[in-house]
Amino acid sequence: METTLARGAPAAAPPLLQVDSVTLAFGGVRALSGVGFGVQPGSITAVIGPNGAGKTSLFNTISGFYRPTGGSIRFKGQDITHVPAPQRARMGLGRSFQNIALFRGMTVLDNIKLGRHAHLKTNVFDALLYLGRARREEAELRRDIEERIIDFLEIDHIRHAPVSALSYGLQKRVEMARALAMQPEILMLDEPVAGMNREETEDMARFILDVRAEWGVTVLMVEHDMGMVMDLSDHVVVLNFGQIIAQGTPAVVQADPEVNRAYLGSGDVGALRRKLHAGARETA
Ligand SMILES: Nc1ncnc2c1ncn2[C@@H]1O[C@H](COP(=O)(O)OP(=O)(O)OP(=O)(O)O)[C@@H](O)[C@H]1O
Ligand SMILES: [Mg+2]
Repeated sequence: METTLARGAPAAAPPLLQVDSVTLAFGGVRALSGVGFGVQPGSITAVIGPNGAGKTSLFNTISGFYRPTGGSIRFKGQDITHVPAPQRARMGLGRSFQNIALFRGMTVLDNIKLGRHAHLKTNVFDALLYLGRARREEAELRRDIEERIIDFLEIDHIRHAPVSALSYGLQKRVEMARALAMQPEILMLDEPVAGMNREETEDMARFILDVRAEWGVTVLMVEHDMGMVMDLSDHVVVLNFGQIIAQGTPAVVQADPEVNRAYLGSGDVGALRRKLHAGARETA
């Protein structure tokens, strides 16, 4: 009977973030066409796809740097399609960038402190001024959060080092720390392990899992490292030429002929899985 079925089915939580029919054009170039997916609270959701597929454009649209030409974005049930980027950050959308966007001459700690100011100030100038004259009670709360993040990401030993002196892997970690300092509900990571060696990649994968487990943060990431995506993600969204060609669990996506074609130029549904296993053996 229908009613029994409805009662027996587990009610899916409403998505924390819902992207609906989003379209984005740059002049004549359509970067995104009718993109729609949801991010469940507490999930690790990954967006994958070949170079130029539109992944970063999608991130920029979600965080408010680009204005979509069509469609809508809802966050915590609220339509944020026309909400300015700084306000989205204050609402709990935190992000890192594909190309590291830290202040290279500043120390690790000062970069992390700047992340925190997204809640208070809308531009970097204000934030820099604020660093000089932080109000005491806020400063204390903030110090507490910053210490937790530094401890959590194991970057205590470099807190006073200028960012420019750090390895690429550590810089990526500092960028994540800065995004966490905004106390986001969704942490958006654009290629968190790009350019990292195997050990750095494994560390970052562990931090991403721990962020979710210990801080309750939902993660939305763009990543090319397929092994990592398939290991960590609950839900994978595959973009190709600005359109979603598949989405689902890692197993579903790996077995999808369209996905195999996009990545490997063949519709052989075992190709991607074999390649992943071969990659795992090589790096083991
Ligand atoms: N600011 C921009 N102005 C004009 N075109 C852009 C802009 N940003 C992106 N594009 C175009 O939109 C398309 C998607 O680019 P995007 O950077 O989103 O891809 P991506 O999936 O992130 O690629 P990658 O894996 O290389 O990072 C490309 O054709 C790109 O040239
Ligand atoms: Mg990109």
